[in-house]
Amino acid sequence: MKILRPLIPLTVILILYFALKEGVPYLGSQLHEGTWPVIPTSVMKMYVFFIAVGVLLIFTFTDDGFKANIGPFAEIYLNPDRKIIRFVSAVLVGCFGAWVSYQYVKPTFDAPVELRSIHPAPPSNAKMWGKTYSIGTLKNPLREDKENFAANVKAGGEVYYKNCFYCHGDRMLGKGPFWDGFTPVPANFVDIGTIAQLSESFVFWRIGTGGPGLPSEATPWLSAMPVWHEFLSEEEVWKVILFLYDYTGHSPRVIEPHH
Ligand code: HEC
Repeated sequence: MKILRPLIPLTVILILYFALKEGVPYLGSQLHEGTWPVIPTSVMKMYVFFIAVGVLLIFTFTDDGFKANIGPFAEIYLNPDRKIIRFVSAVLVGCFGAWVSYQYVKPTFDAPVELRSIHPAPPSNAKMWGKTYSIGTLKNPLREDKENFAANVKAGGEVYYKNCFYCHGDRMLGKGPFWDGFTPVPANFVDIGTIAQLSESFVFWRIGTGGPGLPSEATPWLSAMPVWHEFLSEEEVWKVILFLYDYTGHSPRVIEPHH
């Protein structure tokens, strides 16, 4: 069965592939009990490429080897008597191509592998309401207004319950009526991981520009947070920020001036 000769290098490639795919995790699990480290797909592709090239080089290095391994292909594709096997191999190659393409394009429900940065560095400038704001130096103009503070917090609460509670929840726990429809889920403002860590200017930027305003490191899950500068006034946003901190009892992070 000379025609099956190319199956030998193919088998060698497959054996090496499985040795890497199963062997490396096995060795890793022996070194660190309880783990099963796998080789990343991109690295695996590189290994398999070099293994395939190496094995084929070795098997076709001599004239005899070349004839023995490449000959059967010429036989299949050039010999008029090999019609059936030629037809079958063409169908198989076509099916394989279709399967590979399908694996690439089919939708998946798995979470993306990349991690999402929840609090990305804000841009130094952000455009909202047709103006450009410098996020680094921006302050909440209503914070110093002690006289109207209570009224502003109250107005902020109205903005919140008209616009934000659907997602962020009536008690700010991120569990509004729509919360479980989103990935990432709405922020829980009571948790110390959100506004308690942020400056008011950061929160202002996040509310004003929403999910679409996030830089690419905050993807690949697209945030459902709306672009509020298109629906609220600047003053309403500052008021809702006062309300967020007042309700949760957190104080905004203050950037200390350099000495
Ligand atoms: C359609 C649902 C939805 C509505 C309505 C909504 N948000 Fe959000 N919001 C989200 C989601 C989802 C996130 C988390 C993902 C992200 O960081 O963008 C978020 C994040 C935030 C953050 C960022 C918190 C952090 O730790 O970085 C702030 C601040 C915020 N929302 C404020 C508001 C305010 C104020 C309103 C109302 C004016 C509002 N949101 C209305 C969905 C919503």
